[in-house]
Amino acid sequence: MEKKRFYITTPIYYPSDKLHIGHTYCTVATDAMARYKRLTGCEVMFLTGTDEHGQKIEDKAREAGVTPQQFVDGIVQGERGFLDLWKLMNISNDRFIRTTDGYHVSAIQKIFRKMYDNGDIYKGTYKGKYCKPCESFWTESQLVDGKCPDCGRQVQDAEEEAYFFKLSKYAGKVQHLLEDTDFLEPRSRVNEMVNNFIKPGLEDLCVSRTSFTWGIPVDFDPGHVVYVWVDALSNYITALGYENDQYDDYEKFWPADVHFVGKEIVRFHSIIWPAMLMSLGLPLPKKVFGHGWLLLDGGKMSKSKGNVVDPYILAEMFGVDALRFFLLRTFPFGSDGNFSNEALIQTINVDLANDLGNLLSRTVSMVGKYFGGQLPKDQARDLEKDSDLITAITHLRDKYEEQMEKFSFQNALAEIFKVIDRANKYIDENAPWVLAKDMEANGPRLAFVLYHLLETLRVSAILLTPFMPASAAEILRQIGADERTSTWESAVSWAALPKDVTVIRGENLFPRIDAEKALKQLEEAAEAAKKAALPALELEPQLAEKVDFDTFCKSDFRAVKVKDCQPVKKSDKLLKFTLDDGTGTDRQILSGIARWYKPEDLIGKTLMAIVNLPPRKMMGQESQGMLISATHTEKGEECLNLLILDDKIPAGAKMC
Ligand code: MSP
Repeated sequence: MEKKRFYITTPIYYPSDKLHIGHTYCTVATDAMARYKRLTGCEVMFLTGTDEHGQKIEDKAREAGVTPQQFVDGIVQGERGFLDLWKLMNISNDRFIRTTDGYHVSAIQKIFRKMYDNGDIYKGTYKGKYCKPCESFWTESQLVDGKCPDCGRQVQDAEEEAYFFKLSKYAGKVQHLLEDTDFLEPRSRVNEMVNNFIKPGLEDLCVSRTSFTWGIPVDFDPGHVVYVWVDALSNYITALGYENDQYDDYEKFWPADVHFVGKEIVRFHSIIWPAMLMSLGLPLPKKVFGHGWLLLDGGKMSKSKGNVVDPYILAEMFGVDALRFFLLRTFPFGSDGNFSNEALIQTINVDLANDLGNLLSRTVSMVGKYFGGQLPKDQARDLEKDSDLITAITHLRDKYEEQMEKFSFQNALAEIFKVIDRANKYIDENAPWVLAKDMEANGPRLAFVLYHLLETLRVSAILLTPFMPASAAEILRQIGADERTSTWESAVSWAALPKDVTVIRGENLFPRIDAEKALKQLEEAAEAAKKAALPALELEPQLAEKVDFDTFCKSDFRAVKVKDCQPVKKSDKLLKFTLDDGTGTDRQILSGIARWYKPEDLIGKTLMAIVNLPPRKMMGQESQGMLISATHTEKGEECLNLLILDDKIPAGAKMC
């Protein structure tokens, strides 16, 4: 029988900055869905990729002194880039599209021409407001307090010759699609689209630009590059082979079953994308699902706010599976959720270490302790004591499936953890350690209790596979499940494991996390990351006001030898110098350099000082001049270097 097919996509991400936990959230959710569908027997196409054109990238590349292509290559393929992150996070995408891929570029030119030829694209003048960071055009009425409705930043006036897509022509059809079908989910997003964008009147969409060059050229009108959404949205079909020979899966996988997208780009996916497809005469995707944002302190994460959370740091500290699990266990997929390290640690400790981890390690170790690692076939069931858990396990797959089909990852996981909780209670109710006191009388009963726990773990691990692929496989290995007893089908059959199953003790899968220590470590890592993002070197770019030569010559700079140097009591900044300035009388100077120098290291050194400044008091002591040093900022740290002269320069030598 031919397998059912399932095509799922993430948005293609902008390689303008490194990815953060918010991007990881969407990709992990898509991966869980793709893995779930594979588990249920579907042939899956899971697409992700990068959206590499546009003015922002062009600007960033210029700032970095590289070509736009070099810039995006670095972020996508470079160390700790997009590809590395998806590999680390165990993302099982079948395809990865880059909009700079040659096949995509030529397909977009054909798509643009098709829409032009059928009269849906025309040339006009663009007048409006443009948000550069978001690369979005807005009409006056769409602005919020005169600012970009997406990011709240200032917008600028824009006017230029441009091609337009007749989006207005499709307003009625799109409204019908949104209101009368379940094309867009969650349903709450439908009203927003219809009321905010369609009802006020859909305006035609600017689809080419002439003011930057980093884009796909319109082949019949040099000077124009295809502007963002035609290029970006079409990735979902070009990656299957639409209008190109690179792939041949268009017939097989289009229309997509679902596009997962963040809520701010629902507008593009639920209005522009269907209208474009209608223009091209192509079938529409079956569903667009707009998920919520992961917020930090109530706001969206963004590099410019400096509040991004680095998934590399979290995955390396807590493990990839724990992080994947946390993201989907904690936040309802359709709504916003507040990310915090505390919640992450709590989820790991409660769900994974306490509930699941304990259940696994207790069960496997009891099979080892009481039966040498292999259960006997002779087992005694107790209808009254066992039926509750048996019912829970046998219904689990259906309940889970119902939630997964609605993309309710949080609820699907909650169903699994209800059963895991029940199993932990079942251990207490049956007290295996008490049964073990009289093996002759209770051996068969004890064997059944443990078998029952192994079965709970088996079904749970199968259903956890999409969320925690490596850990679920390890659980299945430890409880002695094989390929046949690890399938989707076997997740509804109670007692699939052989009665005399052999378990394999393994490592502790989810060690408990010392919250205090971990939070401190995270704080340090965040601090280090912030520092790393600071400019390497900051110098004062502005030269000081000019002084005339005579004024300059009045300054008396001299070489001075350090006869003594002491810290100043009650000051952690000042050092007190006794200096030979060549006059025969000791000179005392106080200098705020204790952060950088130890007094004993400076004794005997020859320094440079200005000696004709009026004396001034510091911490009650007189300072007769100032030592000369160079200062700059490096990675946010203030740096200071005293001007240390060659020892052969005598005290009192003048600088001229
Ligand atoms: N390039 C466009 C998408 C084109 S799709 C044809 C784009 N790229 S993006 O990199 O800015 O964002 C990609 C996705 O990441 C969006 O769906 C966005 O909602 C999601 N997220 C970015 N920050 C996020 C959070 N803090 N939380 C959840 N998702 C977030 O838009």
